[in-house]
Amino acid sequence: MLNLYQEAIEKSNIISKTDVNGVITFVNDEFCKISGYTKEELISQKHNIVRHPDVVDAKFKDLWQTIMSKNIYKATVKNRAKDGTTFFVNTTVIPILNENEVIEEFVAIRYDVTKEMFYKEALEKKEEELKELNRHLKEELTKNEEKQQVMFWQSRLASLGEMLANIAHQWRQPLTELNLTIFTLKKAALKGKMNEVDALYCEGKNIIQNMSQTMDDFSNFFKPSKKRYLFNVNESIADALNILDRLIVSETIEINVEGRDIVVVGVSNELSQVILNLVKNSIDAFVQNDITQRVITIKVEKNMQELSIELEDNAGGIQEKNIYRIFEPYFTTKHTSVGTGLGLFISKMICEKGFYGSMDVKSHTDTTTFIIRLPLEEGAKI
Ligand SMILES: Nc1ncnc2c1ncn2[C@@H]1O[C@H](COP(=O)(O)OP(=O)(O)O)[C@@H](O)[C@H]1O
Ligand SMILES: [Mg+2]
Repeated sequence: MLNLYQEAIEKSNIISKTDVNGVITFVNDEFCKISGYTKEELISQKHNIVRHPDVVDAKFKDLWQTIMSKNIYKATVKNRAKDGTTFFVNTTVIPILNENEVIEEFVAIRYDVTKEMFYKEALEKKEEELKELNRHLKEELTKNEEKQQVMFWQSRLASLGEMLANIAHQWRQPLTELNLTIFTLKKAALKGKMNEVDALYCEGKNIIQNMSQTMDDFSNFFKPSKKRYLFNVNESIADALNILDRLIVSETIEINVEGRDIVVVGVSNELSQVILNLVKNSIDAFVQNDITQRVITIKVEKNMQELSIELEDNAGGIQEKNIYRIFEPYFTTKHTSVGTGLGLFISKMICEKGFYGSMDVKSHTDTTTFIIRLPLEEGAKI
């Protein structure tokens, strides 16, 4: 019976025996098969003949400490065969004691888990590759965000350039008026007409106050604010139109704003920036297409969940081959000194990232409509 058990174990496992010094005294056929050594080559050798160089000393120390203190040692061990190939074995080392409780020898029973370990290693490698890919993707994402940030500022700078031109435009007329007023004031003073001097003085002060107001409007508009708070959409539209008012007048554009006061949460001057970009584009198109009757209609509406702002112009429409590309960064049909191609890209980004909303466009033969949808947050509903 015992012999049968022994045979069964020997046939199905890799067995070796060593003396207390780790010198091999017995190996079965399975051991020879997996290690590539013959019995003669193994007997009388130290067991570390199959030791793999990857296995650290600490692991051996642990093994010896365990079995020398008469405990059973269990571990998965990496070994090296005679031809240099690696194999993994699940190992159990049992110290055999004599009747005086002294260690007589060690029996090691192992089974081959090389395939499993290779799968495991391959899996770990794949996992590592995936992690690497993930890291790479994250890096790209950050880079992309940085790029968008740069474009955002480029667009601000571009509109700042436009704005400066606009300020100059806004100031030209009052400067001339002021010049004339001072001249007249001097004349009146020389003639001693004190009433006239007073009136002219007030007029001059008014002009200066207006110019100063224009300046404030501009600098408020470009103040980089990131605070999100409730603001009135119509006011932010009015701010944008105010900045453009001279241009609107000099290009004889009729602007109708329809819709009642609605508040949303976000950065107020970012919405103004969007409206400004859209109106500026409409004006550019009116001029470029030589339109005589120039009308822009801005409709503000709200339903249960969202606010919509529709801006429509009759400036000639957008050609079908272009309409799919207008939101792309740097896409422009204007001369490079005029167009940056960033206005719509940034505007769409503000709607999506700043307001968690959307921006779409429709264009028929002569008209273009931009549709902005912004979700109304809890507490923002009236
Ligand atoms: N209201 C509009 N009517 C006609 N074309 C428009 C209008 N708005 C935008 N476009 C087209 O979309 C392009 C991209 O606009 P935008 O991103 O603001 O860049 P830019 O104004 O610098 O060209 C414009 O060059 C123009 O061809
Ligand atoms: Mg533009």
